[in-house]
Amino acid sequence: MIMPDFIPVISRKDIHARTREIGKQITKDYKGKDLILVGILKGAFIFMADLCRQISIDHEIDFIGASSYEGTSSTGQIVFTKQPDLEFKNRDILLVEDIVDTGNTLCKIINFIDLLNPKSLNICTLIDKHERRKCKIDVRYACFSLEKGFIVGYGLDYNEKYRNMPAIYDLQTEGDAP
Ligand code: IMP
Ligand code: MG
Repeated sequence: MIMPDFIPVISRKDIHARTREIGKQITKDYKGKDLILVGILKGAFIFMADLCRQISIDHEIDFIGASSYEGTSSTGQIVFTKQPDLEFKNRDILLVEDIVDTGNTLCKIINFIDLLNPKSLNICTLIDKHERRKCKIDVRYACFSLEKGFIVGYGLDYNEKYRNMPAIYDLQTEGDAP
């Protein structure tokens, strides 16, 4: 088997600095509100853990499980693997995602959460990746913006591997353009 190449894209230091800035902004914007941070499993688990510790107002935490990928391409179908535990009605929901690519996963999750009648619903993502966007999404908070590529590390996987890598890398596999 040919080993993939990992090209560094975003350093640990830059992730920390941006998470801190976004956490401060969320703290300001949600003052006096009834915030629930809702992480989308599994990819967002590390970002969520770091982000919530940069938010200094009281808030609650929940998770939704959703999966759509096999290898480096979206299957187009999403499967819910975990439902939220908390009551979302009349509360201020901030969805926390690892990466928005086509937007299909988030569009389906947004439609689902809308049915639960939250007071507000916004999106925070670690990475906003634009090239393949199909479903228009209003991303309120994005730590980083990328045009294209398939990235791993800091929670992001390729076939469930590399989530434990401390920073973000572009995964170059056989057949990729140099
Ligand atoms: P979308 O439905 O195409 O927007 O894909 C969203 C989900 O696919 C993300 O939450 C990730 O779990 C996964 N994904 C999309 N792009 C990448 C990537 O570059 N690396 C790792 N996972 C990705
Ligand atoms: Mg994800």
